[in-house]
Amino acid sequence: MEIISDVAQMRRMARAWRGQGKRIALVPTMGYFHDGHLSLMRYGREAADKLVVSLFVNPAQFGPNEDLARYPRDLERDAGMAREVGVDVLFTPPAEAMYPPGYQTYVSVEELSRPLCGASRPGHFKGVATVVLKLLNQVQPDTAIFGEKDYQQLQVIRRLAADLDVPVEIVGRPIVREADGLAMSSRNTYLSPEERASALCLFRAIRAARELVLSGARSRESVLEAVRGIITATPHTDIDYISLVHPDTLREVDTIDPEARLALAVRVGKTRLIDNTLLSESLLCCV
Ligand code: PAF
Repeated sequence: MEIISDVAQMRRMARAWRGQGKRIALVPTMGYFHDGHLSLMRYGREAADKLVVSLFVNPAQFGPNEDLARYPRDLERDAGMAREVGVDVLFTPPAEAMYPPGYQTYVSVEELSRPLCGASRPGHFKGVATVVLKLLNQVQPDTAIFGEKDYQQLQVIRRLAADLDVPVEIVGRPIVREADGLAMSSRNTYLSPEERASALCLFRAIRAARELVLSGARSRESVLEAVRGIITATPHTDIDYISLVHPDTLREVDTIDPEARLALAVRVGKTRLIDNTLLSESLLCCV
């Protein structure tokens, strides 16, 4: 595995691969890998001849009072994990190369960026869309792979690629959970043992919603009330949003007809966690 931090070198390598007829997969990340990242990499390893994983903690997607400075970083650990999965290139561009002095171009996916996380993190998806478009331009992969935990992000990126005619297939992969159900996230490392226990309320709420729908509930209020009840009964929690939205448009829906995404963002202590699930008349099976 090569670690490349120079953008021009990354371009040259990707161009050479394309010249040899190789398919390229890109997994964009902000590092501090966990099994969720590794599952995206394993998928990419199978889906293409060459696998690039980008590691860039993107300042443009953090608000002024967010956790940019303390976001967990450990390049040596990440490189070891990526190497084991068979990553070809770990692409680690420096911030000065991504946003040099004079930088002033941003892309914004208007409607999809507004609700849910967009409402409490103004500018976040503009930062995400911009950096993902830059990475797609730098690597020019055939396929780019993202986790469904950041479901709104995935929808924003799908729209971005479609609207701007980016010749890439955007793939969304299922959420990877800890054994007890907590969705994997680099931010889980911020949780104290007590908060870690409280954080399980997100998965408990998701499971309760799925069970409700399995038993015939279809209305927004019945689902949201159950979810709200579980979260508010859990110590150290503060609800940012609990929403039931159309899976494509992310507009609020009144019923599960035939399906909807339940999306939640909850502060546990000082850590903001997100999770989501598809609620569907037909697809529900195991949790
Ligand atoms: O999901 C992430 O880790 C980031 O938002 C992404 C897609 C790598 C863009 O910085």
